[in-house]
Amino acid sequence: MAFMLALDQGTTSSRSIVFDAQGQVRAQAQQEIRQHYPQPGWVEHCPHEIWATQLACARQALASAGLRAQDLAAIGITNQRETTLLWERRSGAPLGRAIVWQDRRTSSACAALREAGHEPWVQGKTGLRLDPYFSASKIAWLLDHTPGARARAERGELAFGTIDSWLLWQLSGGTLHATDCSNAARTLLLNLQTRDWDDELLALFQIPRALLPEVRPSSADYGHSQAEWLGAPVRIGGVAGDQQSALFGQACLRPGMAKNTYGTGCFLLMHTGERFQHSQHGLISTAAAQVAHAPPQYALEGSVFVGGAVVQWLRDGLRAIDSSSEVQALAQSVPDAGGVLFVPAFTGLGAPYWQPEARGCISGLTRGSTLAHIARAALESIAFQSAALLQAMSRDAVAAGGVPVSELRVDGGACVNDLLMQMQADLLGIPVLRPAVTETTALGAAWLAGLQAGVYGGLEDLTRLWRCERTFVPTLGRDAAAEKMARWEHAVRQTVAP
Ligand code: G3P
Repeated sequence: MAFMLALDQGTTSSRSIVFDAQGQVRAQAQQEIRQHYPQPGWVEHCPHEIWATQLACARQALASAGLRAQDLAAIGITNQRETTLLWERRSGAPLGRAIVWQDRRTSSACAALREAGHEPWVQGKTGLRLDPYFSASKIAWLLDHTPGARARAERGELAFGTIDSWLLWQLSGGTLHATDCSNAARTLLLNLQTRDWDDELLALFQIPRALLPEVRPSSADYGHSQAEWLGAPVRIGGVAGDQQSALFGQACLRPGMAKNTYGTGCFLLMHTGERFQHSQHGLISTAAAQVAHAPPQYALEGSVFVGGAVVQWLRDGLRAIDSSSEVQALAQSVPDAGGVLFVPAFTGLGAPYWQPEARGCISGLTRGSTLAHIARAALESIAFQSAALLQAMSRDAVAAGGVPVSELRVDGGACVNDLLMQMQADLLGIPVLRPAVTETTALGAAWLAGLQAGVYGGLEDLTRLWRCERTFVPTLGRDAAAEKMARWEHAVRQTVAP
């Protein structure tokens, strides 16, 4: 039996999972990582902590599975995307902390570029918006605010990486500076057509090419890890950003197939095949995971900033529940939200609304409203926001000559909530499919690595391995669902600052 080790470096924790060739989890380990908030709107991670926790989890998962490094066919890496760091090539020492994807310190720099009229052509090349979310403005900030960094970068002494590159650098003992196309596509520096760094974009953000890693496919040869880390060298065969990895792990490998990951936020991606398609409805375009020697693959993506985090707010902000798992019972204690609508725009609204100044709002309260109604409305808000994204995707798919999305595959922590999944199916009017293995982010990386190592013969093998645990079938009439969505959209409009 072949085994793969997936390293899943996320925003709040580092995790490692050992999978067997059937895609079953054999062992896993997880360690939280510290969040640093040096100023309002800033979020940073310590690069040393990222590597130390990731390595510790890898060793622990391997030991718990009762395996040795020699038993592994390959390692796959998946990671929080966009998070940006610089390090010294000679010593491998980072130049300070990594700037996390959530960090908004470069908002005004991005706004200035938008106001100067650069967004349309940038979007045309990258599929992205001029937003601080992506790496380019973060790199420029580090070059401008770290003494001597810009001159050193120009002399080729420094390296930039997203977290995948940092882990590859560490695993290879400082011999490999590379990234995969799905991570590179999140920097605002990659031309999605040529799959190479783009000189005009580098000039716009004033970033020296000498900083950048080599871009490879997601399932490809990334060399071997150094023997000292796991006891023997192990082939590294897969690298992908976490959302594209989840799309792959959900076996969404054909145009029109979509998945939604319900975490702190929600990330909805729809495969668009070999076609780099621009959204007409507020989504972004991105590179899907790519297999070596196969044509590039693309996806449309939309993100909800506050998804499962609304439940944390009920727990920590409102103190309405003691633990997140209580939310389903509380919400189910009433037959409906009693007309209450909750738009959790705590940090503005992402796709498809793009309202950075919007703020949260609970509306429709009456004398009879209770915490249970608010809890139900909070859960519904996750489903409403995701439904708005999926509707936008279906419109884009139809505009491009395709068909609307016909089913949604789900994963992430909150997909265990049956009530939420049923609400989602009811709003969308399509089946919602929960897989048997919900660790699809890590599974995607394991599959990418397994493909490279020859564990799998091709994508058909993966499609066959994907198993559904439960299907949530819509039970709500389409008119009733449309009326609910219309009320939601009305509530969204109320959150926008006058
Ligand atoms: O784009 C950000 C995303 O990759 C972060 O994912 O799961 O670490 O919150 P996660």
